[in-house]
Amino acid sequence: MKIAISGKGGVGKTTLSALMARRLAAQGYQVLAVDADADANLATALGIDLKEHEIRPIAQLEELIEEKMGTGENVGQGLYVLNPTVSDIPDRFAIEHEGVRFLAVGTVKTGGEGCYCAENKLIKRLINHLMVKSDEAVIIDMEAGLEHLSRGTGKGVDTFIVVVEPGMRSIQTAKNVRDMARDIGVKSIYGVASKVRNDREIKIIKDNLEGIEFVGAIPYSDQVIEADLRGVSLFDIADEALLVRIDSILKNID
Ligand SMILES: Nc1ncnc2c1ncn2[C@@H]1O[C@H](COP(=O)(O)OP(=O)(O)OP(=O)(O)O)[C@@H](O)[C@H]1O
Ligand SMILES: [Mg+2]
Repeated sequence: MKIAISGKGGVGKTTLSALMARRLAAQGYQVLAVDADADANLATALGIDLKEHEIRPIAQLEELIEEKMGTGENVGQGLYVLNPTVSDIPDRFAIEHEGVRFLAVGTVKTGGEGCYCAENKLIKRLINHLMVKSDEAVIIDMEAGLEHLSRGTGKGVDTFIVVVEPGMRSIQTAKNVRDMARDIGVKSIYGVASKVRNDREIKIIKDNLEGIEFVGAIPYSDQVIEADLRGVSLFDIADEALLVRIDSILKNID
């Protein structure tokens, strides 16, 4: 399983990514949770204490980029290694917490000054080549919106989950994600409703997901807000009903 979690800004991607990662780990799976958002907060959602661990996304590790891509003085001239080895990166940089291996990858901003081609290439290759062993799940928390998809970051991911909150705006984003994910060859595209308060909201989401298979819902919950307020992992304070919802989503996607 190599799953990318995508969707509109603020819908609950990080919340879902963390819950799925921690739940799978608790069930004995090996889990690699990847934060592919420049505004990284998956670590906190997983329960990693930022006072103990300094999180530095791969995209910002200049020495590593240099080591892997052979950039240095060639930077900006498009001269770099085409097929760098990336298989060692998780073992070197992942942080282990409660059975989840966490890797901050980050994203590279396009535009602005200079060329970030080397960083972009390395990150794309890293995500494409994250090895999935038979008993391992890779969960990638994507940045909001579509820009990363147009850069091809999702290539090599077989399964996408689009998170949708009640409302046509996030449903529209989900459809755009679906179209772009199909374009890059993603096989399965699933939808999870988030922050839902009643069956009507679930039904409206379900009825509008055209071509996205609905696999479950996370209710609007004070537990989510409480965890965020306390800066702890929702998983650590989640009640049984919420865990059942997660299990049902996990069951529906394999
Ligand atoms: N089920 C829920 N019930 C109540 N609040 C929620 C729920 N899910 C997420 N939230 C709140 O919504 C906000 C955004 O959640 P989260 O960070 O998971 O979304 P995101 O899609 O990863 O956002 P971003 O696009 O910024 O990465 C947080 O403040 C979180 O506490
Ligand atoms: Mg997020």
